[in-house]
Amino acid sequence: MSANQPSATPAVTRLTHYTKTEQDEILGTGDDPFGVAGAGLTWLPKEEHFGVRLDGRLVAHAGLLRLPIAIGDVETEVVGVGGVAVAPGVRGQGLARLVLAAALDHARTQGPRHALLFCRPPLVPLYQRLGWHPLDTDVVVEQPGSRLVTMPLRTMVTPLHGTAGWPSGRVRLHSLPM
Ligand SMILES: CC(C)(COP(=O)(O)OP(=O)(O)OC[C@H]1O[C@@H](n2cnc3c(N)ncnc32)[C@H](O)[C@@H]1OP(=O)(O)O)[C@@H](O)C(=O)NCCC(=O)NCCS
Repeated sequence: MSANQPSATPAVTRLTHYTKTEQDEILGTGDDPFGVAGAGLTWLPKEEHFGVRLDGRLVAHAGLLRLPIAIGDVETEVVGVGGVAVAPGVRGQGLARLVLAAALDHARTQGPRHALLFCRPPLVPLYQRLGWHPLDTDVVVEQPGSRLVTMPLRTMVTPLHGTAGWPSGRVRLHSLPM
């Protein structure tokens, strides 16, 4: 836990909706708040949303979306995690840890054995600190026009049940990334 975490842990709530307006409330209206525009990818919106409010203002979010995936010869599903965001003024206080923990508690009720996310390389140590592991294999994802591309960002996974290991083999997401 961060040394400067607020003494009373804020509540994480399930958000009924999460649009650009809510994202702007957290991250501001900048062009590329996630720093991934350079990858030129089209992303899926998430289906389930978890958030933290401080003094009525939304300051943290994590989203979930179940996705079909092939790992080697196995067709399965993962819980995709995306839109992880904490307002600039309250970073470093454990809010990403808090909102991700609540989102993953929910993901554990959904069935898939693993959660998966994509991130910029500088965020790998942060997610490792939160119990995620980088995949060393290429991950192929879909893009509009039935195009298949190799994900240029890092792929991180975490088990949702016990210590379920990530199976070996090529990884192909049967959807746009989330
Ligand atoms: C990335 C982001 C969500 C992190 O939010 P945050 O609230 O500052 O993160 P937390 O305070 O919960 O930190 C999580 C953990 O990572 C650790 N951490 C932070 N930076 C780290 C680093 N560079 N190396 C290793 N660990 C790091 C923290 O110490 C904390 O661990 P602890 O609880 O054991 O101390 C936030 O910076 C953000 O919104 N960035 C812009 C949007 C974005 O890029 N989102 C990610 C999309 S994949």
